[in-house]
Amino acid sequence: MKKIFLVSLLFPIFLFAQVEGEIKVPYVDFPMKDGKGVYSTRGKCNMCHSFGYVINQGKQSRAFWLEKTVKMIKTFNAPIAEADIEVVVNYLYENYGSNDEHNNSVEVP
Ligand code: HEC
Repeated sequence: MKKIFLVSLLFPIFLFAQVEGEIKVPYVDFPMKDGKGVYSTRGKCNMCHSFGYVINQGKQSRAFWLEKTVKMIKTFNAPIAEADIEVVVNYLYENYGSNDEHNNSVEVP
């Protein structure tokens, strides 16, 4: 401690170290494919995290998107009305869906 104090006496500039200029934190806006339900999905899925967080998952089945949307509502209290679930899931599946037919005939609970 004493040493640090002595060194800081020798080089007082260290005590006033500042970053020159303005610091800008980049806002990374993830482009969303245009399609039916894009506005609704943008409003509902970008509230808490960026859309990058969503499409990070890669192309997925309808069941997967439904499960994630329901998880956001139940686990994280996402304010998404029941009637909007289908719009969001359809948008996600139509634009970021896999061709996994196996899981695609899922009804909104
Ligand atoms: C109320 C806030 C909120 C909203 C709105 C929201 N999410 Fe999330 N989401 C979270 C949180 C919190 C996490 C977990 C973050 C973590 O674990 O690092 C998350 C994580 C995710 C993940 C990562 C995988 C996983 O299972 O955790 C996906 C995919 C996802 N959200 C999709 C969506 C979709 C699709 C929507 C729109 C229907 C949406 N989110 C809306 C809060 C939200």
